[in-house]
Amino acid sequence: MSDFNFLSEELLQLQRDNLIRQLLPIDSAAGVTVKINGSEKILFCSNNYLNLAENPEIIAAAKNAMDKFGFGSASSRLISGSITPHIDLEKKLAKLFGKQAALVLPTGFMTNLAVLQTIPQKGDLLLLDKLVHASIIDAAKGSQAQFRTYHRTQFDKIEKFLASDEYERKFIVTESVFSMDGDFADLKKLVELKKKYNAYLIVDEAHAFGCLGGRGAGLAEELGLLNDVDIVVATLSKAAGCTGGFVAADKCVIDYLINKARPFIYTTAPLICNSAAGICAVDIIEKAVDKRKKLKENADYLRAKLNKLGFDTAGSTSHIVPVIIGDNEKTVKLSKRLFDEGFLVVAIRPPTVPPGTARLRISLQSDHTKTQIDSLCDAIVI
Ligand SMILES: Cc1ncc(COP(=O)(O)O)c(C=O)c1O
Repeated sequence: MSDFNFLSEELLQLQRDNLIRQLLPIDSAAGVTVKINGSEKILFCSNNYLNLAENPEIIAAAKNAMDKFGFGSASSRLISGSITPHIDLEKKLAKLFGKQAALVLPTGFMTNLAVLQTIPQKGDLLLLDKLVHASIIDAAKGSQAQFRTYHRTQFDKIEKFLASDEYERKFIVTESVFSMDGDFADLKKLVELKKKYNAYLIVDEAHAFGCLGGRGAGLAEELGLLNDVDIVVATLSKAAGCTGGFVAADKCVIDYLINKARPFIYTTAPLICNSAAGICAVDIIEKAVDKRKKLKENADYLRAKLNKLGFDTAGSTSHIVPVIIGDNEKTVKLSKRLFDEGFLVVAIRPPTVPPGTARLRISLQSDHTKTQIDSLCDAIVI
């Protein structure tokens, strides 16, 4: 038998550094509360921002689709796996984002791989915010284009890259709501720069889709900039309460992806019931003005309380509110104590966030009550 000591050693080191990660078995739906080992915890670390993961209409849509189409999709999209719910969902998403076409993929991670490793080509530049999601970084690393990073306030650095004649085409890539700090990208400024230098702008609205904008299309919609974003990437896995990623753009971009994007071509189509659920979720999202309002009120309430108590919330302006602790061990201890007191808020540590910025990443749901938020704040302080 081969031994795997080379892995065990590294795992032990992760343990010593308070960086070990373990799976937590949850035995209920991921609502405002969850059941773990028979006891109830208030959930403050889920991306189920609008509580759609347990929405009865969405569940019924999935069940109906299962009755009609079965469960597995049995083939990749280009072979025999393009089923009407996939196509209807794509039409709906294209319309919501004001684009000519859209494409759904099994995950948001794969969508970033598909877009960023297919559209920018050899000789091009991918210009990324330093703290973008791992899927964007990994996609950029495997892209034929070169990639460079900037800090989100370094507009002079972005401009220098955009002005360079070293590259054929330049693509600015950003999240709209940053997943770990909960702040917003300065989309207005990025649009201004992309226009000035004739660059392309790709925006990942993973954490904004459903939560921001009059119809829930995200930050670009909220700012009136939907037409200025060339390619929108997002996921159905967060506020929409389903799973799967999607991209919306010009038809020619989508046709190109269908023909060339390996993470789209060489994988089985998304579950049909998931796409049917997605159609229902988008219908709900478009009208979910009250849920968005409540989510914002909850976030503003929590942030104000934490700031008053002297906690650093890293410039958060959204429903993601980090409490920066810094030290890994202290963060893990705080998360464990909160768990014992009835809250699930996982400790986020490097490499997910930069060294020295370990944190509790609190994410709000529209169904959280002020009493639940108060009790969390009380527990954090003690
Ligand atoms: C900004 C961002 N993009 C993409 C993803 C990946 O989406 P998915 O979970 O659907 O793979 C995530 C989170 O998981 C994310 O935070």
